[in-house]
Amino acid sequence: MDSGGEGLSGSERNAENLTAVRPKAASALDAVNRRVWGDPRVIADYARPLAYTDPGEGVVIARVAELARRGPVLDLGVGAGRTVPLLLPITDDYVGVDYTPGMVERCGTRFPEVRLELADARSLDAFADERFAAVYFSASGIDAVDRDDRALILREAFRVLRPGGVFAFSTHNLSHVAVGKPPWSRTVLRGRGFRGSVAHLVRFPILARNHRRLRGLSQTGDGWAILNDLAHEYGIVIHYTTLRAASAELADAGFVDLEAYDMISGARVTRAPETRHSWWLHLVALKPTVAEPLPRDGGASLSLVRGSSEADAPLPAA
Ligand SMILES: C[S@@+](CC[C@H](N)C(=O)[O-])C[C@H]1O[C@@H](n2cnc3c(N)ncnc32)[C@H](O)[C@@H]1O
Repeated sequence: MDSGGEGLSGSERNAENLTAVRPKAASALDAVNRRVWGDPRVIADYARPLAYTDPGEGVVIARVAELARRGPVLDLGVGAGRTVPLLLPITDDYVGVDYTPGMVERCGTRFPEVRLELADARSLDAFADERFAAVYFSASGIDAVDRDDRALILREAFRVLRPGGVFAFSTHNLSHVAVGKPPWSRTVLRGRGFRGSVAHLVRFPILARNHRRLRGLSQTGDGWAILNDLAHEYGIVIHYTTLRAASAELADAGFVDLEAYDMISGARVTRAPETRHSWWLHLVALKPTVAEPLPRDGGASLSLVRGSSEADAPLPAA
């Protein structure tokens, strides 16, 4: 069921919806990440004008535009609205969603003309089945939830997409060279340049304290891990995946025709070693045009990984 609200301005609808989000029992990881997204300083930071996060995102948005053909677009985890000006030109029916009230408020202030909802990507009950031609979860927002809840997000994205609709998202790459490294690791300092290294060292006591506080939430599985990430001063705990594991989870949710793009070059990639310098991957997958039986092989039927010799990168020691 669509949440309606016709006849209200964008900001009126936003105010109305701020009370409507369903609370969800939080896992420890969920609580940590929600606290960070809700911090007014983080919200202000996300409200800075910024175009694409990286070349890979530009390629993916062009691909979404091509596949969605101006159909309705759902922008999951819209935050303070960075993606609004990127997605508005490709659709006549845009809806942005975030579960952080402060982000939705800020986005509504910046873009009063757009439709925004306070909602959790794990339960998109506000939207009817097959409502959208495209669903986009940018900036690795999908990584903020735990393993089981990630499957819920994929299921909801699948449900609200039309047959033939496109789901695109970015997700942290377990094959990256510096995954899981603590603030005192040389790999983390390398490539920061002089100013970046000085800033890192000045903030070091906070980074180290946060890392020690949160590293106990780590989990590892086959091709995935949940780890303390260096973003927000080592203040978040997020999901990482290999390309193979991401391919399998998308196939489990019913998606087909996976395409993966490197964040740095924007080039199409098919093997994990090609992505070892990319903190995240950009993925595009389709909901089949006709109902297909779900694969029983954990995703090996996706063309991206068929016959692949890709071995999952081992998790580097912290
Ligand atoms: C890394 S920020 C990116 C914000 C924005 N997309 C951007 O690129 O600037 C992740 C955003 O996803 C939102 N988010 C995380 N998990 C979510 C969920 N389960 N449902 C809805 N929003 C979520 C957070 O509140 C936050 O605004």
